[in-house]
Amino acid sequence: MKRRVLIEEKTLQNRVKELAKQISEDYKDKNPLLVGVLKGAFVFMADIIREITIPHTLDFMAVSSYGASTTTSGVVRILKDLDAPLFNRHVLIVEDIVDSGLTLRYIMRLLAARSPASLKVCALLDKTEAHQSMDLVDYRGFEIPNQFVIGYGLDYDQYYRNLPYIAVFEEKVP
Ligand code: IMP
Repeated sequence: MKRRVLIEEKTLQNRVKELAKQISEDYKDKNPLLVGVLKGAFVFMADIIREITIPHTLDFMAVSSYGASTTTSGVVRILKDLDAPLFNRHVLIVEDIVDSGLTLRYIMRLLAARSPASLKVCALLDKTEAHQSMDLVDYRGFEIPNQFVIGYGLDYDQYYRNLPYIAVFEEKVP
């Protein structure tokens, strides 16, 4: 597997701190509920909550991803739903990456129907080229080009989630 580092570990850490600072200011006295989307967002979630300075709770949901392919199937399945109700909570969805935006749109529709007090999105990576028409993300870590990336929670066929940086995945040429 060839990989080219796109975002260094230190750069990631600095941006996560900035996002956490902004969220801590915006959600002061709102006791937000952070909803992490598994599996990809677990590393980002673990890092950002340790930089958030206000009281908050968290929950996770799991949705189906691409499997071993690097293009979207357009099908989103809920594999694990949230444990707690959202009614009247200030909900912040924490996503690893927004590509076509299909997954996020689906999740937002689902969660909006549960009457939260507010619903916003924090995504570490955003491939804006892939969904130009709509601005889905309220807190964005980085805009990245339309390439398949791995590391910092993101996988290719379930591997490479452990890399501490974001790299462009380049498929093996036989
Ligand atoms: P979307 O529905 O096309 O926006 O895709 C969102 C989901 O696909 C993310 O939550 C990831 O799980 C996965 N995904 C999209 N792009 C990448 C990538 O470049 N690397 C790894 N996973 C990705």
